[in-house]
Amino acid sequence: MTVQETAPFDIANPGLAREGLNRIEWAAREMPVLRLIRERFKKEQPLKGRRLSACLHVTTETANLMLALKDGGADLALCASNPLSTQDDVAAALVHFFDLKVYAIRGEDNDTYYRHIDACLAQSPQITMDDGADLVARVHRDRTDLIPGIIGGMEETTTGVIRLRAMAADGALKYPIIAVNEADTKHLFDNRYGTGQSTLDGITRATNVLWAGKNVVIAGYGWCGKGFASRVRGMGAQVIVTEVQPVRAIEAVMDGFRVMPMAEAAQIGDIFVTLTGDINVLDRHHLEAMHDGAIVANSGHFNDEINITALESMSESHRRVRENVEEYLLMDGRRVFLLAEGRLINLAAAEGHPAAVMDMSFANQALSTEYMVQHRGDLPPGVSSVPEDIDQEVARLKLRSMGMSIDTLSDEQVRYLSSWESGT
Ligand code: ADE
Repeated sequence: MTVQETAPFDIANPGLAREGLNRIEWAAREMPVLRLIRERFKKEQPLKGRRLSACLHVTTETANLMLALKDGGADLALCASNPLSTQDDVAAALVHFFDLKVYAIRGEDNDTYYRHIDACLAQSPQITMDDGADLVARVHRDRTDLIPGIIGGMEETTTGVIRLRAMAADGALKYPIIAVNEADTKHLFDNRYGTGQSTLDGITRATNVLWAGKNVVIAGYGWCGKGFASRVRGMGAQVIVTEVQPVRAIEAVMDGFRVMPMAEAAQIGDIFVTLTGDINVLDRHHLEAMHDGAIVANSGHFNDEINITALESMSESHRRVRENVEEYLLMDGRRVFLLAEGRLINLAAAEGHPAAVMDMSFANQALSTEYMVQHRGDLPPGVSSVPEDIDQEVARLKLRSMGMSIDTLSDEQVRYLSSWESGT
């Protein structure tokens, strides 16, 4: 029997289920918006009978999203969106306590990763949910037979949206996808404060370095890079930013960071972190310029931001010196420490973004799924935005859950904003 034919799950250790449940409940305390959606979904059943396959990081926060979708009536299958991000106790809890079809094992090899994606597709989904677009890519490459039955999908992350837009530009994307990442209540908080904190957390857990006084080189000043830079500065590090986009480079300068090309930064940095979404951002010539003991890590979605092939070919040997830290001994005697195999450090070495921020990201996922089902057949193939009223509703609910209220415009102010007569 192959996994993709019939097995209802493939997880590392069912014995971890109780521990997983405790942690899922702990995360739920910080996810009030998703809780409200879950309660409504339970009553209204907007996803009743819909087969939904999700390829997401299998974390406590994802578990809470799955439970909301399940309570909304969805028939779910879940696989991992990265070989190193699965929390095995969470996978076990979802199978044992909630009878979900889960295919995810932390540390799975590439073949198993894709076998799990295939297993997740075996239920012939009507809805796909991705973090990085591997599920959608697999459907369009190898399971085109499924496309006529798919209503649409959702995409969680910047890298996935870029990939899907490239597919759409090629005319290759055959069903509608809502770019959850582009909701304000997603990227302004998840990418900035979530990645900022969880990247710091991952590198700290992997290395236990003291940040104060370190030269930290950050590649990329998008929302993730911005968030990480501000957090690392708060820890007392000297931050250098590298960028390719002039506007973002000016932003970094005016935010108070040094900006320079990576070739220069490579000679100065103690810790290098890539958050760009592009390949070989730390390339051979950068690795060649680094001082003995430099630490390199990636917090972008895919593990190709650091040229690991070059690092291997430059090295005499390598060895694991502690969990998630591989020491590469270069031919000239210098050592470079690679964290978490160059995979996203925040999920591989820590627990990903905290639940309070995933609350908004996954509220957008849940409401966009409902929207997709309600508007089935209406959206054209391609990438579309999260509807503005969903984004605003998530913000309102989050504010309320934080015990905060804000002002509203008076009638006079509304009139003023829609008129042009009054001026100087
Ligand atoms: N991406 C980043 N952090 C995450 C988390 N905690 N759960 C799911 N996906 C994530």
